[in-house]
Amino acid sequence: MNTKKTKTKALKIALVLISFLINAPKTFAQNNDTKSQKIDVLESKIDSIISLLTLKEKVDMCHAQSKFSSKGVERLGIPEIWMSDGPHGVRAEISWDSWEYAGWTNDSITAFPALTCLAATFNPILSGEYGYNLGEEARYRKKDILLGPGVNIYRTPLNGRNFEYMGEDPFLASTMVVPYIKGVQKNGVAACVKHYALNNQELWRNEVSVEVSDRALYEIYLPAFKAAVIDGGVWSIMGAYNKFRGQYCCHNELLLNNILKKDWAFDGVVVSDWSGAHDTYESALFGLDIEMGTGTDGLGSSTANHYDNYYLATPFLKSIKSGEIDEAVVNDKVRRILRLMYRTNMSSNRPLGRVNNKEHHDIARKVAQEGIVLLKNKNNFFPVKDENITIAVIGENATRSMTAGGGSSELKPQFEISPLAGLKARYKNATIVHAMGYATGPSVYDAIIPSKLNADSLRVEAIKVAKNADIVLFFGGLNKSHLQDCEGADRKQFNLPFGQDELLNDILSVNKNVGYILMSGNAVEMPWLNQVNGVMQTWYLGSMAGQGIADVISGDVNPSGKLPFSFPVKLKDNAAHAFGESSYPGINYTQTYKEDILVGYRWHETKKIDPLYAFGYGLSYTNFNITGIKTDKKTYQPNDKIKVTCQITNTGNLDGAEVIQVYIGKPKSEVKRALKELKGFQKIHLKVGEQKNAELTIDAADLAFYDESISDWNLEKGDYKIYIGNASNSINKIININIK
Ligand code: GLC
Repeated sequence: MNTKKTKTKALKIALVLISFLINAPKTFAQNNDTKSQKIDVLESKIDSIISLLTLKEKVDMCHAQSKFSSKGVERLGIPEIWMSDGPHGVRAEISWDSWEYAGWTNDSITAFPALTCLAATFNPILSGEYGYNLGEEARYRKKDILLGPGVNIYRTPLNGRNFEYMGEDPFLASTMVVPYIKGVQKNGVAACVKHYALNNQELWRNEVSVEVSDRALYEIYLPAFKAAVIDGGVWSIMGAYNKFRGQYCCHNELLLNNILKKDWAFDGVVVSDWSGAHDTYESALFGLDIEMGTGTDGLGSSTANHYDNYYLATPFLKSIKSGEIDEAVVNDKVRRILRLMYRTNMSSNRPLGRVNNKEHHDIARKVAQEGIVLLKNKNNFFPVKDENITIAVIGENATRSMTAGGGSSELKPQFEISPLAGLKARYKNATIVHAMGYATGPSVYDAIIPSKLNADSLRVEAIKVAKNADIVLFFGGLNKSHLQDCEGADRKQFNLPFGQDELLNDILSVNKNVGYILMSGNAVEMPWLNQVNGVMQTWYLGSMAGQGIADVISGDVNPSGKLPFSFPVKLKDNAAHAFGESSYPGINYTQTYKEDILVGYRWHETKKIDPLYAFGYGLSYTNFNITGIKTDKKTYQPNDKIKVTCQITNTGNLDGAEVIQVYIGKPKSEVKRALKELKGFQKIHLKVGEQKNAELTIDAADLAFYDESISDWNLEKGDYKIYIGNASNSINKIININIK
């Protein structure tokens, strides 16, 4: 038989073998009913595939072939991997080889509320529904990896990307991220938890090297990622742009090899952030599996063949051929990639996905309803009844799109209901008059102030509308423009932009009955707080923003959100800004987190600096009574579970929900500790007059601190205090316990 025929025959055999291997899971799975046997079968299939691949094919799988995809192996029918942003919706299709949008007409989607809102629900079950519905849309859009969720800890209120993350507390972020990931991955779409790690600001994100103690690393900045891997079973993780201790996070030996892949036994794929890889040897040996976005500096154009020049492309191939890098290195990367494929685009039983359907809209609205936080409600300003009154709706944020802009998480929703539209649809008996009050310019990226004349005419008009109204709803806050809540830069100021403070004071001079509706992903300064009657934090709520906001303002829904981060009175009250430039934003691109473990409320409480609004705080239109608070024992063994029980009653006249929060502290500890730390919470929905029992269990082992002297967790024996309440600064009872 001539060579050509031999090759053809060999190819046919290979194809048969491949198709068998790809479709085999069902067959094998039916015969082997234990998980470990399924895994053995999967691994043996992967071994077989790897043995069929050429070295070039293997290397090609380890880097991008386009802006958002990486190669498969066409010869063997192994598919490409397609990725898409983002954490709160599936981004519109991007061009093959540039950051331009592809201009498709069939890629509009549901924009879900941003993750600060999801965290503010303190509702893990809802987070699972959110993840599942978002994952359905990613599946429908044929994406194999959804580039989210983001769980970087909220360290400074200036960070441009805090709106994409889950707040300042590692326990809250850990508890909320796990169901989100499981929900996404039920669709056969890999979640990609990001940005691993210590990417807590946008300023100098590509250059800054973060220094922080091991204790703060393990107790504050890693827990949400660890939970995503160990409890959430996340199939991919994205390295951060910044360095940690001088080494880029996208190829960081400690973070990726030692902690992620060894200690946590992560069996998935490490994806670089776009342009986050900087070296072949380090990318190869220190844990990077798929290199994305290199050479396009994130925003620039790229050359046609530059994918061959990626660090994990030709240079990597040459290093293996020369023997400098062992072929086992690329085999491990390909094994991880194939494992992700078997979970996604080579899975034989993936659902089909759905998009823009009623269930997705309902979930988006429910997260909005449950995430909105009522911060102030003097003179029962809220809820605003739908009566024959005139409501002045002031502010550009009442009509501005908040799904456009913000950076990579920006979306093209099928629709986006503005607060003004939502209010007009809800209030049939009231007269609603809108005045923009201030403008920030057309571009989503240029926070420009209009000319003095424009600003004056807008101001005068707003004052007139407010003067003639019964009540004023001021829709202000930040937006998704550059230097606001937007990727790639940090805010330059803690106070409100665009002259809002001055405008609000002008309005208050003609109408005292004002409620401020804050739309932001960050804390802001509120110098006018004592003059307004109501304040509501309404986040960035996506497609259903207008309904969610009108639901809560009208009282159709009782607000139950709690703050996932503290509001300092002024910027220097925040821990990251208490130690000068070396702590934020850093000096000469080196930054030391000098507050160490005392982030957010840990700082405020330990340093006795009262926040404007505290972590875990949020009001309701009804009242709750928490009684009968007790623990099951007074003394515990290290491997015991601490059981906290209580009764909670809705004593008001509206159905609602409360979040019982359990914090634990250790006075007289051998090490520095925060006064108390969140270790448990439970959201409980109660009808008027209803009473329910609540039970929260906390592993005593979870009270350990990370002991740098032994590089491990250390559970101190002795006395602890358990604080039970409905906010970090609203504690109903303190119980003393002892761990023997
Ligand atoms: C961006 C972001 C990352 C995003 C990626 C792709 O720079 O940092 O979160 O997923 O690039 O757009």
